[in-house]
Amino acid sequence: MPPHHPEEALLPRPTRYTPRSGHFTLDPATTVRTTPGAEGAADLLRTLLTPSTGLFLAPSRTGTITLAVDAGLHGLGEEGYALTISQHSVMLRAADPTGLLRGVQTLRQLLPAEALGPVARAVRRDRWEVPCAEITDIPHHPWRGLMIDVARHFHDAATLRRHVDLMALHKLNVLHLHLTDDQGWRMPVASYPRLTTVGAHRAQSMTGPDGTSGFDGRPHGGAYTRTELADLVAYAAQRGVRVVPEVGMPGHVRAALAAYPHLGNRPEHTLGVWTRWGVCETVLGVHDEVLDFLRAVLDEVMEVFPSPYIHLGGDECPTTEWEQSPRARARAAAEGLPSPAALHGWLLGRAGAHLLEHGRRPVGWAEDGALLPPGFTVMSWRDPAHAAAAVRHGHDVVLTHHRTCYLDYAQDDLPGGPAAQPGPVVDLRTVHGGDPEPQTPADGGGRILGTQAQIWTEFAPRAADIDRLAYPRLCALADRAWSGPTSWADFTSRLHAHLPRLDALGVRRHQPAAPRTTSATPARTAPLA
Ligand code: ACM
Repeated sequence: MPPHHPEEALLPRPTRYTPRSGHFTLDPATTVRTTPGAEGAADLLRTLLTPSTGLFLAPSRTGTITLAVDAGLHGLGEEGYALTISQHSVMLRAADPTGLLRGVQTLRQLLPAEALGPVARAVRRDRWEVPCAEITDIPHHPWRGLMIDVARHFHDAATLRRHVDLMALHKLNVLHLHLTDDQGWRMPVASYPRLTTVGAHRAQSMTGPDGTSGFDGRPHGGAYTRTELADLVAYAAQRGVRVVPEVGMPGHVRAALAAYPHLGNRPEHTLGVWTRWGVCETVLGVHDEVLDFLRAVLDEVMEVFPSPYIHLGGDECPTTEWEQSPRARARAAAEGLPSPAALHGWLLGRAGAHLLEHGRRPVGWAEDGALLPPGFTVMSWRDPAHAAAAVRHGHDVVLTHHRTCYLDYAQDDLPGGPAAQPGPVVDLRTVHGGDPEPQTPADGGGRILGTQAQIWTEFAPRAADIDRLAYPRLCALADRAWSGPTSWADFTSRLHAHLPRLDALGVRRHQPAAPRTTSATPARTAPLA
């Protein structure tokens, strides 16, 4: 059934929507007027609509669509916008150009779903109607992210650009790229070329979870060029999406150590890039060459990625090698640390300080009990209690909890589904519900910046796998992150109207199994399709 009001079809839900009578019609005579600073939003409008609608939306001083930056609208913040659709004009205004990019996506969603499709499939019309309305829209959270792990399986730049487009449709604004791990290093670093000539390739992969499976006997690999990464950053920026790179340390570095064994704790050992899944015992050494390496890598990362945030990993770092290494123990003693295990915080602190000296902010995964060094933004993934503790200690926090935000977990518990990360079922409703947000202390602790979905790719080797894991669950996360909590009924009714847009865009989304008719057990995923 079509929704009664167009706002019931917007995803995420706008802050305020007042319907007005009538329609604005886009037709071959429609032109676009911009004020200084709004040109990028006009370009995006054309990039999104011209191929599918055939309308040129040419620039003109008397355009019926006006895109305007007005610094006086500071109440809208950096990403908010005001959109007035009347029968004879459309006025989109924002305090910052980024707000206009968000408003363009709303205007796009108010068109029929075919307006989102590629030219070959578009139903050619001369007139495209948009319902009249007044909309004011301001995001609930400033950080609305998606992490894609391109280390466990390499996914090419075209796939990433496509996901940037889909993120922008949902007003998500951070693409976190997990660029390095035990199983592959994907970003070239000029002063350490073997990171990609050696570290980007592994001999084979496990076919299932560690301990339960064999190997596929086939090589896997891939790396981006520096130009591809720079182009991705620019492409994302045009859509109001920031790319936050992650270079993990001190654990999850086996690919780097396969390339440069002298950076490890046992340089005499020749290691291959890891072919297993799980947590690898091999970690970075803590000698001066490692600090030189980290500075050189981070300098290049900062050149390619203008993001104010750079992620340094920090998760799942076994300390056995440091406990066994005389050199690491000597370093711990020389630095006055209570134990070799404290080298974890020490090394992260040194790398983080290098970023802070260059005006960037380090990000790290929260681990059990151990607080990240001061100045780190924390991604709380294991337990909401870690988010609360980090905020109390003055850290800014992004909520990334595995039980609600890890989209590599199965979407239902029906037999015969695709291989998934072992763990809880994370169905659409679980993602929609999210986690309770910790109270931020009144006396100046840290802030909750927002939330982010994670797609780890051990079991997602193909581009279609990422589509299936992300959609429609990412719609639920985007809705919560932009709109704040919404009711399940409200969300599912809007999602129902939104799915034709995903279909027009060719998203290979998860298709929920047919509801069971003979069993009292409800389907894990609401039957929406
Ligand atoms: C993580 O899932 N190891 C952050």
